[in-house]
Amino acid sequence: MDKIKTIKGTHDILPEFSHNWQNLEKTIHDSAKLFGYKEIRTPIIEQAKLFNRGIGEGTDIVSKEMYSWLDRDEKAIALRPEMTASVVRSFIQHNLGSQTPLQRLYYMGPSFRRERPQKGRQRQFHQFGVEAIGSNNPEQDAEVIILAWEILSKSGINNLELKLSSIGSDDCRNKYKNALIKFLEPHKNKLTDVSRERLKHNPLRILDTKNEEEINILKAAPIIGDFYTNEDREHFENLQKYLNAVSIPFTLDPLLVRGLDYYTQTTFEIISNDIGAQDALLGGGRYNGLIRSLGGKDTPAVGFAAGMERILLATNNNENSGRKIQTIYIVCVEQDVLNSVQKIARELRALNFMVLTETLRRSMKAQMREANKCNADIAIIIGEQEKNDKTVQVKNLNDGSQQTIEQKNIFEHFKSLTL
Ligand code: HAM
Repeated sequence: MDKIKTIKGTHDILPEFSHNWQNLEKTIHDSAKLFGYKEIRTPIIEQAKLFNRGIGEGTDIVSKEMYSWLDRDEKAIALRPEMTASVVRSFIQHNLGSQTPLQRLYYMGPSFRRERPQKGRQRQFHQFGVEAIGSNNPEQDAEVIILAWEILSKSGINNLELKLSSIGSDDCRNKYKNALIKFLEPHKNKLTDVSRERLKHNPLRILDTKNEEEINILKAAPIIGDFYTNEDREHFENLQKYLNAVSIPFTLDPLLVRGLDYYTQTTFEIISNDIGAQDALLGGGRYNGLIRSLGGKDTPAVGFAAGMERILLATNNNENSGRKIQTIYIVCVEQDVLNSVQKIARELRALNFMVLTETLRRSMKAQMREANKCNADIAIIIGEQEKNDKTVQVKNLNDGSQQTIEQKNIFEHFKSLTL
């Protein structure tokens, strides 16, 4: 009798490797918790129309790679090719937006794409990711990127590179698409068949070409940055400012085009030079239109997903410590010190505190209420007085005691608490 084997592009995770997976899963759970994200688990099969509408019918993922079929009752169902659309479906279905103005969610599990298998590319692969649903502000994008960076660094991956772009709001992108079509039309005969087809449906994807002649043509193409609205520009500049504040290096890559249709403004990828041709460990961005387009209320959102097999290819896993985690809420009503907030949060997370920061820019009172609702142990408060004095108030929410600390001494102060 012939032996039955795994399907092409799928793999068993054998016992000798499963501890690597467990370590990575633990790093993800622990880090997500330190940032105040809660896990969501959704089914592996969904109605196919969720992905058709969510990811876009014209994308490779949906038109060429998705496993979908008619079920016995003639309904079209699909194996999920990614999890953002599923999380958004769940967010709408269970009205999660009514519980709190900001949902910080994370997930992990298998996804399926019928791609040509190679090193770092499977037909069943595992993703983990986060979705922050509710805030339109760049500090939310920064938080998501910092969390991504944190998990990859903690997994022991060296040579990380963050590529960052903004593809602008709908208005900007429509104008840019038209300009790109106008620029490429005269070169149409020199384009590959694939790009000629993309010129009709999705011209931005042509920017992603690996074809030498097309790369040369594109050197003179219009640049998206010239089409940003003031809001797009300000959002993108603030995001860069916040990333600079936490010393996360990035390169601006105007040609960064992601293979899903739902993005608006921020897009990013983190790559590693250590894992071969399939070098994208993680990709994400803002998707302010997706929730409405799937039938929910207009709600801004940003997130990312990473390929776990690719991380394990690049990784030497580290163990984490098991100390009880205390929660700190940074209450800040001064927008021009938000970069300091990100910096403080990062330093304290390095000490293994769970740190929540405000990304909805609520009033001092509302933030304090939120800190209590989250069962925070400590609130770090920065108001106008503290901003001017370069101090913070550290309030112990368990016993009500409060002290003033200079901002430059925060790390040492909390470090001494952990000894
Ligand atoms: P994506 O870029 O399509 O984005 O996938 C994210 C990551 O999943 C990739 O960077 C890669 O590491 C991994 N991946 C994708 N396809 C494969 C494959 N065939 N084999 C192995 N690994 C793979 C998304 O899926 C979006 N949902 C990300 C997102 C979340 N955007 C906003 N929120």
